[in-house]
Amino acid sequence: MESTQELFEANVVPSYARFPLALERGEGTRIWDEAGKEYLDFGAGIAVCSVGHCHPRVADTIARQARTLIHTSNLYYTRPQGELAARLNRYVGHPGKVFFCNSGAEANEGLYKLARKFGNEARSPHSRHAAGEELEYSPNRFEVLTFDGSFHGRTLAGIAATGQEKVRKGFDPITPGFRHVPFNDAPELSRAIGPDTIAVLMEPIQGEIGVLPATLSFLKAVRKICDDHGLLLMFDEIQCGLGRTGDWCAWQTLTQGEVVPDAISWAKGIADGYPMGAFWIRDRKITLKDGKESSLADLLGAGSHGTTFGGTPMGCTVANEVLSIVEEENLLANARELGNYAKEAILGLKSPLIKDVRGVGLMIAFQLVPDFSQRIGDDRAASLALISRLHAGGLLCVPSGVQSIRWLPPLNVTKAEIDQAVQILGAALNS
Ligand SMILES: Cc1ncc(COP(=O)(O)O)c(C=O)c1O
Repeated sequence: MESTQELFEANVVPSYARFPLALERGEGTRIWDEAGKEYLDFGAGIAVCSVGHCHPRVADTIARQARTLIHTSNLYYTRPQGELAARLNRYVGHPGKVFFCNSGAEANEGLYKLARKFGNEARSPHSRHAAGEELEYSPNRFEVLTFDGSFHGRTLAGIAATGQEKVRKGFDPITPGFRHVPFNDAPELSRAIGPDTIAVLMEPIQGEIGVLPATLSFLKAVRKICDDHGLLLMFDEIQCGLGRTGDWCAWQTLTQGEVVPDAISWAKGIADGYPMGAFWIRDRKITLKDGKESSLADLLGAGSHGTTFGGTPMGCTVANEVLSIVEEENLLANARELGNYAKEAILGLKSPLIKDVRGVGLMIAFQLVPDFSQRIGDDRAASLALISRLHAGGLLCVPSGVQSIRWLPPLNVTKAEIDQAVQILGAALNS
């Protein structure tokens, strides 16, 4: 019989560089490969399995709902979708409305469409006088500014939005309407606003390039720049949101709730691995081009957006259960407390091979020294070289670029599991 890897090589599109591991079964923070070897899973599907693998309440909910109602079209109302939207509104803490879809990239697509619709239908300020310069706005603004180093997904618009050249390579022509500016640099953002700019999309904590949080002063400045120019401020919380930072929203952790966005995208941790994405739009007044008042949250009216599988009774029931577990098991506090514990423990290794440890809550990265691979005599990129040693020791974690490694364990990870992971890391660094 062919091995799983051979089956993939013959039949699966080779778009992922995979580690040589075939995983079969999971329970909590632990996962087992086909040979029965046990690993601690500190990637959790890249920040997806927020209450761990196969949580009994999640498994029971899936089984129960599978016997009740799996799918109906969005032509009808279903209670779980309404309740999940109300729950997400409660977490944001400001009135708004939610649209459900199936992935992070698709949630961001909704935000790009919201921005375009806003540019097409809302009245723009005529012009703005700033520092002696006058900026005349186009009548139909459409451009979304994003940041260098960002990641927003793999659709055509997603790769245009993403501030990393490597994701666009080979896919010309690139979807127009996106421009990238340096992260955490308010003067540059201010200078970048052009006549067509309508929105700013940002990850409050950039994930893929090594867990880089936006500073408080930058977040406040971005909000002010957006207000001054009549732009939407949209947060991609797909990786950092829904509990990972110790609050429901990363921007709540970073700004104590002071900076409120106009829209938010979520996916990953929302349903513990059941595929789901969502975006939230703030219920705030806007003036349309004909002078009528409306709400931003009602801009995507009937017929303007949709998706077959979005917000099914199954997906929403699972997400409601997962988020109830986060509430009832006090996992926001656990993310805060054990995130600090993990960072201290990694620092406590005092390894000369670790340059820096960063992170907020249970979104943690450590950066390896520039000559890491030479020092350990491995010709692979530093993150890959260390990850292969960690696999041998029984720990899964996620590379973040070539030089950093991310820890994104389930939000219910325990101190004992962190101690074990740190011990495996220490041994891998010393071997
Ligand atoms: C910040 C961010 N945005 C968007 C995405 C895309 O999400 P998905 O892979 O579900 O399309 C990701 C996935 O890694 C992400 O981390």
